[in-house]
Amino acid sequence: MEGKVYTAVGSPNIALVKYWGKRDEKRILPHNSSISITLSLPLYTKTSILFSKKLRKDEIYINGMKQDLDDREARERFSTIDKFREMAKSKTKALVVSYNSFPSSAGIASSASGAATLAFVASKALGLSMSQREMSIMARQISGSACRSLFGGFVKWEKGTRRDGSDSYARQIADENHWPALVNLIAIVSKSKKHISSRAGMKQTVGTSSLYKSRPGYAETASARLERAIRARDFETLAEITMKDSNSMHATMLDTWPPILYMNDVSRRIVLRIHELNENAGKTIAAYTFDAGPNAHIITLNKHKKKVLNAVSSVSGVIEVLESRPGRGPRLVADREGHLIDRETAKPIVGRPRGKR
Ligand code: DP6
Repeated sequence: MEGKVYTAVGSPNIALVKYWGKRDEKRILPHNSSISITLSLPLYTKTSILFSKKLRKDEIYINGMKQDLDDREARERFSTIDKFREMAKSKTKALVVSYNSFPSSAGIASSASGAATLAFVASKALGLSMSQREMSIMARQISGSACRSLFGGFVKWEKGTRRDGSDSYARQIADENHWPALVNLIAIVSKSKKHISSRAGMKQTVGTSSLYKSRPGYAETASARLERAIRARDFETLAEITMKDSNSMHATMLDTWPPILYMNDVSRRIVLRIHELNENAGKTIAAYTFDAGPNAHIITLNKHKKKVLNAVSSVSGVIEVLESRPGRGPRLVADREGHLIDRETAKPIVGRPRGKR
């Protein structure tokens, strides 16, 4: 609805079977299906949107920084707002203001959380009656992995086979209450920006890695097995698939020319520590997975949390360890929880967002 501020919160996700490589760059269609867990507090994105006649052009602020919409990649990503406008038969310009509760450079997928929340709140603000699945298709076109953040809990992005991308969407395997014992520990080992973006990196891998040729088939089978393991709450199988898939993706990165190295020495020490921990326990009690960065996500169960936390925290080079769990999908927030846009002036409200998730 025009002239009214809408605000939503949404969360990042961590992939256990990874998306790395597109069969269609423009539509953002992946070579294989992937599965992730949507994360809970303290990780969230809060996004406000206002469609208003007072605005002469679109303006987007992320973490207080005005985005340069003349930049090609930014323009491509945010062209999704035009698609929403087309669907709503509207020409009104938009102001978008978004904050992450976590630093974008912390290696937590802020783009996924941001894009999912934007797709959700834009569709609501324009009064479009879209299903979560349709929203996931829109979010996918901003950033692939974002489509999975349209749902809470355990989510699969079906790669689809159609050329127009209409069957490449996310669906929920199980909600955030399905497996309450599951914990995700995030070991922060570096806060610096990655040396190459996921978008550029995966394109390079698809184009140059001979190892990559076997990756889509491998990951597709892993996705099917992981879905069954999640449904059955079979931790050992989930853990093995998760660790192997992370290693498989990072192997194709190393095989890229020139090579892509997201993991660092601290990441590798964590890998060895987790294997040592599992060996000593006589069973698998923890699994690691790394996205396009050196920070480790460790999946474990409540009953092993203390032990795993101690082991990971004592790895030399670990700066801090955050804790999260399977969390919910995006939701609209009430006025009293605070917006990031002043309706009267059609300007961002300066400062950190008020209110909680
Ligand atoms: C390593 O979704 O950021 O996190 O579609 O080009 O925007 P684009 O890429 P993006 O890639 C994420 C890759 C990953 C694995 C994953 O989340 O599945």
